[in-house]
Amino acid sequence: MRLKLRIWRQKNAKSQGKFVDYALDDVSPDSSFLEMLDVLNEELIAKGEEPVTFDHDCREGICGTCGMVINGVAHGPKAAVTTCQLHMRTFHDGDTLVVEPWRAKAFPVVKDLVVDRAAFDRIIQAGGYISVPTGGAADANAIPSAKKMADRSMDAAACIGCGACVAACPNSSAMLFTAAKVAHLNSLPQGQAERFDRAVLMVDAMDAEGFGGCTNIGECEAVCPKEIPLDFIAQLNRDLLRGTLAGAGQR
Ligand code: SF4
Ligand code: FES
Repeated sequence: MRLKLRIWRQKNAKSQGKFVDYALDDVSPDSSFLEMLDVLNEELIAKGEEPVTFDHDCREGICGTCGMVINGVAHGPKAAVTTCQLHMRTFHDGDTLVVEPWRAKAFPVVKDLVVDRAAFDRIIQAGGYISVPTGGAADANAIPSAKKMADRSMDAAACIGCGACVAACPNSSAMLFTAAKVAHLNSLPQGQAERFDRAVLMVDAMDAEGFGGCTNIGECEAVCPKEIPLDFIAQLNRDLLRGTLAGAGQR
């Protein structure tokens, strides 16, 4: 495949970025998007030019490290896949691909296609821990969880924290991410003791990081590689309302 690439290049958070055009003449349709960028980088290094910086780790769709906006869509045009799981056969010979980093105030550009997503870590930290009795490790089956609750929790825990939901949202809201992280504990019996504190504190942390509010647009759900549904946001809003009325999160 022959491809034209228009890639966002930016030295650091303070410098002004710009699109730079590249051409690749021999891209395997079976390569992944990141492997295609590896080939580009090998060519750039051979020419003595600076390679394109991008985030990646597992390349198996499970770690949430990769992520870029491809032709205007977070993680590219294919539903329910991460950038590392996107294959070049999704595109056509002769296509022009415009590649940009996540764009959100709370995700400052580190370099080229890499953004700083530490704000997500701080939201998770604000949720704190679950209360457990001290002593020896509890038997795994000591607290019975109904199958429905366990499934709900597992569905929420599928969130890999990639940030595509923020990148796709016109408000740069992190509500889908935050809702998933709240729900995976709040859906289980073990998470009930801090349920309302968790909801209030994590949403407060999200607001403090500069993410926008949710106005039910649904772009987040559309681009989420793990298909986290919008109804987790409804669940979070219910816990948030009950928690706020009860004065939760005052620690
Ligand atoms: S909710 Fe989906 S899009 Fe958002 S961080 Fe989690 S996995 Fe990524
Ligand atoms: S590199 Fe781990 S999800 Fe893409």
